[in-house]
Amino acid sequence: MIERGKFIIFEGILGAGKTTQAELARKHLISLGRNANYTREPGGATAGEVIRRLIFRLKKEKAINADHQVALFFASRDFWVREFVAANLGVGCDVVSDRSYPSTAAYQGYAEGADLESIERMTEIIMEEYKPDGIILLDISIDEGIKRTSSANKDEDDPYDKLGVEYFEKVARGYREMAKVNWSDVPWHVVNGEQPLSLVAHDVRGVLREILGLKKLDPNRLPPFELSALQSYTSRYG
Ligand SMILES: Nc1ncnc2c1ncn2[C@@H]1O[C@H](COP(=O)(O)OP(=O)(O)O)[C@@H](O)[C@H]1O
Ligand SMILES: [Mg+2]
Repeated sequence: MIERGKFIIFEGILGAGKTTQAELARKHLISLGRNANYTREPGGATAGEVIRRLIFRLKKEKAINADHQVALFFASRDFWVREFVAANLGVGCDVVSDRSYPSTAAYQGYAEGADLESIERMTEIIMEEYKPDGIILLDISIDEGIKRTSSANKDEDDPYDKLGVEYFEKVARGYREMAKVNWSDVPWHVVNGEQPLSLVAHDVRGVLREILGLKKLDPNRLPPFELSALQSYTSRYG
C-alpha cells in the first residue's frame, strides 16, 4: 500500500511569509526525495477558485457577514479537500497549503465574531480524515506584516489585506491562542517569521523533519548542501 503523503498548512497574518515559505517547503520536501504539491486556500480546485472570487467580491462590497463568510469558505474547502488534498495524499504526495481552515477561525472567528465552536465542528465535518499533520504559524508583528505587503508586488486584490490594525491584532491573538492549545487537535508549530528569510526557512525545515519523523539537524553542523541552499535563498529573496 502507498504511504499517505504528509499535509502541512502555513498560517499567519498578511506578509508573514506564508507563500514564500510554502514554496520553499515544497522544494525542500522534493529535495528529500518526496513528491509534494503546493495549494492555496480558498481555491485550489475549479469550484473553489470560483467561490474564492465570489467571497472576495462580496467582502469588498461589504455584502456578507461573518457567518456567510464561514459558510462560503467551508463550501469552497469541501471541493478543495476532495479534489485536491485527498487526491494528492492518496497517491503518496505531500500537500503544502498556503492557509486553510485555521484562517477561518482567526479571521471570521477571532476578528469578526463568528462562533468558534461552530467553526471547529465544521472543520471536523469537512476535513474528516484529512486534517493536517502539522500547522506552521509564521509569527510576525502587525507593523512588519503591513510594511512587507505594502512594498510587495501583489497579483491579486485581496480585501482581507486591507483591514485595519485593530482587525489584525485580533487575528494575531487568535492564531497565538490556537497554537497554544493545538486547536482542532493537530500539532501547531510557531516559527518566528520576523527573522531573515533564510533563518525562517531553516526553522521551517526543522519542523518538516519533525513532522516526517526524521532526526534533528545540529544547527552548528549543517551539511554543505544545506548551507549553499540557504545562501541561494538569501541571494534570491534578500
Ligand atoms: N523573512 C522575511 N524577511 C523579509 N521579507 C520577507 C520575509 N519573508 C517574506 N518576505 C517578503 O515579504 C513579502 C510578503 O511575503 P509573502 O510570502 O507573500 O507573505 P504572505 O503570503 O504571508 O502574505 C514578500 O515580498 C516577501 O518576499
Ligand atoms: Mg500569500
